[in-house]
Amino acid sequence: MDVEDLIQAAREIQAEAHVPYSEYRVGAALQTVDGTVFTGCNIENANYSNSLHAEEVALSQAIATGHRDFSRIAVSSNRRDGVTPCGMCRQTLAEFCDEEFAVITDHGDDWREYTLGELLPNTITQEHLG
Ligand code: THU
Ligand code: ZN
Repeated sequence: MDVEDLIQAAREIQAEAHVPYSEYRVGAALQTVDGTVFTGCNIENANYSNSLHAEEVALSQAIATGHRDFSRIAVSSNRRDGVTPCGMCRQTLAEFCDEEFAVITDHGDDWREYTLGELLPNTITQEHLG
């Protein structure tokens, strides 16, 4: 699958986002090392606090169906503004993904690629607690 196809999957899942408060739709498409893609969208809540983020939803779909090895994630918002995973989502990804894991952002006509290590250097992982 091309990077553009992964971004397209992140765009399409935005249609399912529940965003009555922010109207900011986010989609994530998470690819496993065997090529399977899991998607997620943001799901907001009337308490304004415990929204689920698109990346969390995509990751939870993968984990709940037995997938643990990931190669990359594409994240996209309806503004095509190059949004990156927030700090919480970076940490959630770091639980399962190493520093080389690729994070692809959607700028509309363009995309960029980061590594999880550059977005979240020197973070706590399982190794610290082992
Ligand atoms: N959001 C995500 O889904 N992922 C992120 O990592 C950044 C923020 C959502 C949460 C909320 O519904 C909206 O974007 C505005 O913060
Ligand atoms: Zn987040």
